[in-house]
This record gives sequence, C-alpha cells and structure tokens, in this order.
Amino acid sequence: MSKPIRFLVVGGALTLIAFFAAVFLLPKPQGTGLVAGEDIPFYSMPWGDNPFAPGNLQTADGKMLNAKNIPTAEFCAQCHEKEYREWVSSIHSVTGPDILYETAIGNNEVAHKNRFGTEKIRWCDSCHEPVNLLMGEINPLAVVGPSEATAEGTTCIICHTATQADPLAGNGALTLDINNINNYDEALIMAAPAEHARSMQAKTHNPLIGSSDFCGACHTEIRPVEINGGEPMLLQNTYEEWQKSEYAEKNIQCQDCHMHPDPAAYISQLNESGQVPERIVSHRFVGVNYLLTDSNLPSNLVTFLRGGLPPGDISTDEWKADLLEQNRLILDLLQAAADLSISAPESVSLNSTATLNVTIANTGAGHNLPTGALDQRHMWLEVKVTDATGKVIYHSGEFNAKTGQIDPNAVIYIKVLRDKSGEIINEHILFNAESYTFTRDPIPAKSSDTIPYAIPIPAEAQGPLTVETTLWYRLALQEFVTYSLNLDVIVPPVVMEKMKMEIEIR
Ligand code: HEC
Ligand code: HEC
Ligand code: HEC
Ligand code: HEC
Ligand code: HEC
Repeated sequence: MSKPIRFLVVGGALTLIAFFAAVFLLPKPQGTGLVAGEDIPFYSMPWGDNPFAPGNLQTADGKMLNAKNIPTAEFCAQCHEKEYREWVSSIHSVTGPDILYETAIGNNEVAHKNRFGTEKIRWCDSCHEPVNLLMGEINPLAVVGPSEATAEGTTCIICHTATQADPLAGNGALTLDINNINNYDEALIMAAPAEHARSMQAKTHNPLIGSSDFCGACHTEIRPVEINGGEPMLLQNTYEEWQKSEYAEKNIQCQDCHMHPDPAAYISQLNESGQVPERIVSHRFVGVNYLLTDSNLPSNLVTFLRGGLPPGDISTDEWKADLLEQNRLILDLLQAAADLSISAPESVSLNSTATLNVTIANTGAGHNLPTGALDQRHMWLEVKVTDATGKVIYHSGEFNAKTGQIDPNAVIYIKVLRDKSGEIINEHILFNAESYTFTRDPIPAKSSDTIPYAIPIPAEAQGPLTVETTLWYRLALQEFVTYSLNLDVIVPPVVMEKMKMEIEIR
C-alpha cells in the first residue's frame, strides 16, 4: 500500500516537499542501464513493495513485466491460428479497450488524481488490463514504455503463464510465471516444443488452467478496503455460486460450458442425456455480450464499442463474420439458460381477479442467473394479457424502445448500488458504492423462482384471453450507456424465453 501518498494527502505541505525531494533524487526511468522488470530500485520506494496492489494479480518473482518480453496474440497466432481467431471474437480480447470499460475508468480520472487514484485503477486493471498493470504503466511514475500487448486485454500470455490461483480472494488472484520465459522466438519454440508447452502451462503439465479455480480468480470481484475504507464489498461472485452448485459436484467446470464451441448445444446434451459430455476447447468464451459482438450494428459501431480493430492481420470482413457467429452463439446460450412456465386456471369469470404463477427456472447456467456485473446485467419478465378482440387488459414489464426504459413496476432482477447519500449509482462507479440491494435475488443453478401475478378481469372482456410472457435479458442500463458513449444509442434487450397460453371466460 502507498503510505507516502496517503501522507501526501493528509500530511500537508511538509510531506509534500519531502515527497518531491525524494522523487527528484531518484534515478530517472530512462538511461539508468536498468532492465525494467529486473531491477528497478525505486519500485519499492514511494508506493510500497507491491506495485500491483490492491489487485491480487502478481508475477512469480514479484517483479514487473518487461515490455520487450510480452508476446502479442499475433505472435502466438503464427502457430496457433485457430485459438487466435476464436479469441479475437471473444470479450477477453477487449477487456481493456472495451469502450464501456474505458469510459468507466476515464470518468474516474478525477479519482485517478485523487486519494488512492492509482490504487483504484490498479484494482480495476488487475482483471481488465493485466498487462498494463504488470508493466507498471499505471503507477504514478511509469517506468516502462508501451507494449502492443497492452491493448489486447486478457491476452494469451496472461492466461498461459498462470501457475497458481486463489479464486476466493478474487481481483485477479493469479500468480504468473511470466518473467521466466525469454525464448519468445519461433526457432527456439520449434526446437523444443515440449518445453514451450510446459512454459505455456499446458494442462498435461499443470492442470490448473483447465479448472474453475483458474477462471475464478478474475470472476470474483471484491472491492478492497484500500479503496474506500470500511468492509470489503463483494461485487461479483460467479465462482462461489458455481462452487456451491451441483455442477461443481459433477466436476463440470467453467471451461466445459464456456470453452465449448457451442455452449448451448453442450447444455442441452447435458440436460437431455444426464451424462457429462466430453470437453471440447474453443477460445470464444461465449457469454452474454450480444452488443460488442453485433457486427450488424450501424457502420463501425462495433469497432467503436470494442475500442478498435483486432490485432493481427485478420481481414475486417472475416472478423465481422466471426463476430456474428459469436453473437449467434451468445443468443443461443441465453436461450439455453432458462425455462419459463405458467400456471393459471383454465377459465376465469368476468369481474374477478385471476392469479397467474410464472416460474423462471435456471436450467442452464452453472451459477446464479443472472451473474457477474449485476448492477448492469439485468433480466426481467413481461406479462401481457389480451382479450379476443385484441384489447390489452393487463401489461407489466413493457420496454420503451424510444427511451430505453423498462416499466418501473416490472418484476426485474438487478442489483441496486447506492452511494453515501443513498443516491442510486447507475453508471458502474463501483468506488462510490456504500450499499446494495437486489430487487429480486438471482436464481441459483438448478433452482427456480415463482412470481404470482394478480390480473383483474374487466366485466366487458371477450374470451378467450391470451397470456404472453417473455423473459428479457439486457446487458446494461440505458443510463450507463448514455453516460459512457454520449451517443444516441438505445440498448436493445434480447429474448431469453417466451411462453403463450389461453384462458377461457366462464
Ligand atoms: C513457432 C510456433 C509457435 C509459436 C509462435 C507458439 N507456439 Fe505454442 N506450441 C507450438 C507447438 C509446436 C506446440 C506443441 C504442440 C503439441 O505438441 O501438441 C505448442 C504447444 C502449446 C501449448 C500446449 C498445448 C497443449 O497440448 O496443451 C500451449 C498452451 C501453447 N502452445 C500456447 C502458446 C502461446 C500462448 C503462444 C504465444 C505466447 C504460443 N504458444 C506460441 C508452436 C508455437
Ligand atoms: C482467459 C484465458 C485464456 C486466454 C486469454 C487464452 N487461453 Fe488458451 N487456453 C485456456 C484454457 C483454460 C485452456 C485449456 C482448456 C482445457 O483443455 O481444459 C487453453 C488451451 C489452449 C491450447 C491447447 C488447446 C487444446 O485444444 O488443448 C492452446 C494451443 C492455447 N490455449 C493457445 C492460446 C492462444 C494462442 C491464445 C491467444 C490467442 C490463448 N490460448 C488465449 C485459457 C486461455
Ligand atoms: C485475467 C482475468 C480473467 C481471467 C483469468 C478470466 N477472465 Fe473471463 N473475463 C474477464 C473480464 C475482465 C471480463 C469482462 C470484460 C468486459 O466485459 O469488458 C470477462 C468476461 C468473461 C465472460 C463474459 C463474456 C461475454 O460475452 O459477456 C465469460 C463467459 C468469461 N469471462 C469466462 C471465463 C472463463 C471460463 C475463464 C477461465 C477459463 C475466464 N473467463 C478467465 C477476466 C478474466
Ligand atoms: C452448465 C454450464 C455453465 C457453467 C459450468 C458455467 N457457466 Fe457461466 N454461463 C452459463 C450460461 C447459460 C450463462 C448465460 C446466463 C447467465 O448470464 O447466467 C452464463 C453466463 C456467464 C457470464 C456472463 C454473466 C452475465 O449475465 O453477465 C459469465 C461472466 C460467466 N458465465 C462465467 C462463468 C464462470 C467464471 C464459471 C465457472 C466458475 C461459469 N460461468 C460456469 C453457463 C455456465
Ligand atoms: C475481479 C475482476 C474484476 C475487477 C477487479 C473489475 N472488473 Fe469489471 N468486469 C469483470 C468481469 C468478469 C465482467 C463481466 C461480467 C459479466 O459479464 O457480467 C466485468 C464487466 C465490467 C464492465 C461491463 C463491460 C461491458 O462491455 O458490458 C465494466 C464497464 C467494468 N467491468 C468496469 C470495471 C471497473 C470500472 C472496475 C474497477 C472499479 C472493474 N470493472 C473491476 C471483472 C472485473
């Protein structure tokens, strides 16, 4: 932790002078003859011993990453074209450049300059921009030049050098043996492929990479005390949700679903046969981001959202086709996640109140539904009842496509973050969150949630009545996107499940 900076803020002018004097006397980053990542003495000076704190990502030797030693995805692609092409469409290739992330960080630039600003960004970057973090680029005195790999988010070399993980500690709690490898050289690799496979932590050498423990390190997000004082705040808990589920018992890891070339097909195979299907590996990491993969969006919007064109020499057309395939797989996965059912009387009388019970079952997600960044990702129910003349007699959960707002009375699954003064935080400013509540608890794996609806049947309704229920999923709140993009873009929801039935009038 950066004690001197804390003193700088609270300690007044004297410390200020002392601090600048200390900085002035330190060797300059350039021309010292020191090798970045090997021996940088001032790295233990102004901001404590751990230049990555309060993130939990670390290098095996505790030293920073040398910009010269970071192979890009393009380098790996020379021999692993398949993995590269899959990864390029995935969200992992843009965890840093993702415009929503960049804005969330950028809008905190104020915070960056404020108390603990560096720590704040290091916390976010420990999962989103691991290369940047490990190079020390976001430290108050950056000592290394830029590297092409910093723009690649969670790039190959980050995952493929992980030797240890502490999934419950989260915040990127991986140890990377990344400084130990200095033969990023095609000829050397080909001369000793087995050694290369070992240093890339091939599963046969180190089973860690094939397990949920590995993914859990970045899929557990806890706001550290250093950021805001008070108790640590658990913000994403996907790993633990999985750990408590029957999937963990059956040895079905994150990789089984999310690295399957077609996760929806995997889930239906699993549900239909009851047997655990064979693991097949793809680097698409299909999830839910139907926006950053929608290359049908108006010209170049997807490039903008993803923070630019992909690295490597893949043609734009091929890339867009790969993205559309990713988008299709995502929409299929969302549909495989849940089942809807309605229980209702066969007939109702006029001038009465009918009760409908709508049940949402989490049939496909290996964790809560929804999971992840739950102050943004949300799921809600729309219930519409029409009579035989087409007249709408009941409507809950309508989406307004002009404003991007959802009926405020909808049955919705979202986490409401609040700041100190009780104001709702809609823009994912996690630093400021003081408390949160769920509008409705997310549904654990293999569980369900039943919602009763009371429908008043008017005296003049014509039978039969048609009940339509839709389960919607949406990636982000309109407020957040409007704030981030400053563009006139409405975030469209997508359908997870639909169900229709008729009720007679007695
Ligand atoms: C010059 C070609 C070349 C380059 C460049 C290269 N690799 Fe490899 N890689 C190989 C070969 C050959 C093997 C061994 C294949 C085998 O035996 O199955 C291999 C094996 C691997 C394995 C183990 C696969 C398994 O069976 O589990 C991983 C993981 C891997 N490479 C990742 C990477 C990453 C990440 C990069 C970029 C940092 C990279 N490779 C760059 C040629 C290359
Ligand atoms: C988010 C982490 C992550 C990233 C990023 C990543 N990989 Fe992997 N990779 C894995 C995991 C996990 C496995 C092992 C899956 C299994 O077999 O259980 C794997 C397996 C592999 C294998 C062995 C494939 C096989 O079929 O057995 C190769 C080769 C490989 N990765 C190369 C790459 C290359 C090249 C990149 C970058 C373009 C890359 N990986 C990016 C996590 C990652
Ligand atoms: C170094 C950190 C890191 C590791 C390791 C990691 N992830 Fe991620 N992952 C992220 C971040 C950050 C995001 C969100 C990026 C964003 O939305 O901008 C993400 C997003 C995802 C998504 C959502 C994609 C979408 O389309 O919405 C899935 C699914 C996923 N990861 C699965 C995995 C699995 C499975 C593993 C293990 C094999 C894994 N991750 C390992 C950091 C990581
Ligand atoms: C049985 C298959 C299965 C397993 C196992 C599984 N998932 Fe998922 N995952 C899904 C499905 C289905 C969805 C889409 C529904 C949802 O969002 O919950 C999903 C969604 C996600 C998302 C996007 C969440 C959102 O709503 O924004 C992330 C991130 C993710 N999974 C990570 C993981 C991690 C990490 C693990 C392991 C700890 C894991 N998953 C295990 C099936 C699985
Ligand atoms: C523990 C790792 C971790 C840390 C730390 C972390 N994130 Fe994330 N972030 C993720 C994962 C994983 C997802 C995707 C989850 C999902 O799909 O629901 C995500 C999603 C996001 C998204 C949504 C991106 C999109 O395209 O929809 C934004 C924005 C974001 N994070 C910003 C931040 C900010 C700002 C911080 C620091 C305050 C931060 N994150 C800290 C792991 C992390």
